[in-house]
Amino acid sequence: MTDVSPTSPTEAPNPLRDLPAEGLRSRAAEALERARARSTVLTGVVDDDDLVRQHSKLMSPLVWDLAHIGSQEELWLVRDVGGREPLRPDIDDLYDAFQHPRASRPSLPLLGPAEARAYVAEVRAKAFDVLERAPMTGRPLTEAGFAFGMITQHEQQHDETMLATHQLRQGDPVLHAPEPPPARSGELPGEVFIPAGSFVMGTSLEPWALDNERPAHEVEVDAFVLDTVPVTNGAYLEFLESGGYDRREWWSAAGWEYRSAHDITAPRFWRRERDGWWRVRFGVHEPVPVDQPVVHVSFYEAEAYAAWAGKRLPTEAEWEKAARFDPATGESRRYPWGNDDPTPEHANLGQRHLSPAPAGAYPKGASAFGVHQLIGDVWEWTSTDFAGYPGFRAFPYREYSEVFFGPEYKVLRGGSFGTDAAAIRGTFRNWDYPIRRQIFSGFRCARDAAPGERA
Ligand SMILES: [Fe+2]
Repeated sequence: MTDVSPTSPTEAPNPLRDLPAEGLRSRAAEALERARARSTVLTGVVDDDDLVRQHSKLMSPLVWDLAHIGSQEELWLVRDVGGREPLRPDIDDLYDAFQHPRASRPSLPLLGPAEARAYVAEVRAKAFDVLERAPMTGRPLTEAGFAFGMITQHEQQHDETMLATHQLRQGDPVLHAPEPPPARSGELPGEVFIPAGSFVMGTSLEPWALDNERPAHEVEVDAFVLDTVPVTNGAYLEFLESGGYDRREWWSAAGWEYRSAHDITAPRFWRRERDGWWRVRFGVHEPVPVDQPVVHVSFYEAEAYAAWAGKRLPTEAEWEKAARFDPATGESRRYPWGNDDPTPEHANLGQRHLSPAPAGAYPKGASAFGVHQLIGDVWEWTSTDFAGYPGFRAFPYREYSEVFFGPEYKVLRGGSFGTDAAAIRGTFRNWDYPIRRQIFSGFRCARDAAPGERA
């Protein structure tokens, strides 16, 4: 297929680039405070025993996450950007994620809960002091407040990890939030057609975009068809009830091996009761809600469902084109709805609710093509291995993303109800092992356009 757009596709102008230094500082301060409020809730609703305990071998004790958040903030904002003396050089090593795998962290001589809280508060006071004077230009780390944006995103990502730890924790519910909004889009078509043509993928303009989202580059995408909404529990139940987990033909070789070795028979946290399927969600037992996107499924389960449905998972480029490209202007926007930051009307983000919202709950968040709920609700598995874009340059260090490039990680897109707005956008890339399902992962399906649909 050839590109039929009259002009070359471009990246939409980014409103953050016009912000003066003071605007960038207040944006950074607000984002850092929001992240800290969330960390405080996640570590404040359980007692000290709970904070130091390992709730799952997959996760760190919550108190490790907390002090690690402070340690990274100290390294980058206080020491590097601020040029200040180290507060606690003696603990750098303990909170280096690359030195200690999660399973080994409980046996380390970690800061206790009170010490960890005092440490992160002291670091934060110094970081705000640095923020007041830091240049918002100059070297790449300070340009448009990048380091502050990076550290905010880091804290929010650990907040989402801590939320996943809460989901794995046994015991009574300790987190509370209002129900997500109901479906309000009216009847939606099951699928959306996305015509062939190139678009700009990635970004060279978003000030706080991470290295793996850069640079912007043109990508040719053939015509395809994408599900309007993520696959719901109701749809997933049809796969499950029709024996989807027992039918070898729907699974890849690796997926079948994983499913068999671990006796995977349903999404994580689901249980069959006499009256149907129930799930545990942050300590609450409830019937599986059929209208919400399925969550806590591995890449392999997503892939098997798609095969059963006669479809496939979208590639990362297909997902991003459906989310960002506006065929009327040829521009790739920051978000499906345009270039403005997310509001509660656009997407289910930031732990405002403790579950995905029903399909059709966010009509104002639809993309130019009419695809819904691409941002928020559930991370969406794509079929793409995590790799650098053409022209990729590791920044500010190789361990940020580059060491993870390769076929063992699959890309997830769009963020979940547990992702903060500061840590998601149309270009944001998450990655994980295809077996992972304690994360807030779901998916939607795609398929090649049939010849008759390509007109
Ligand atoms: Fe980290």
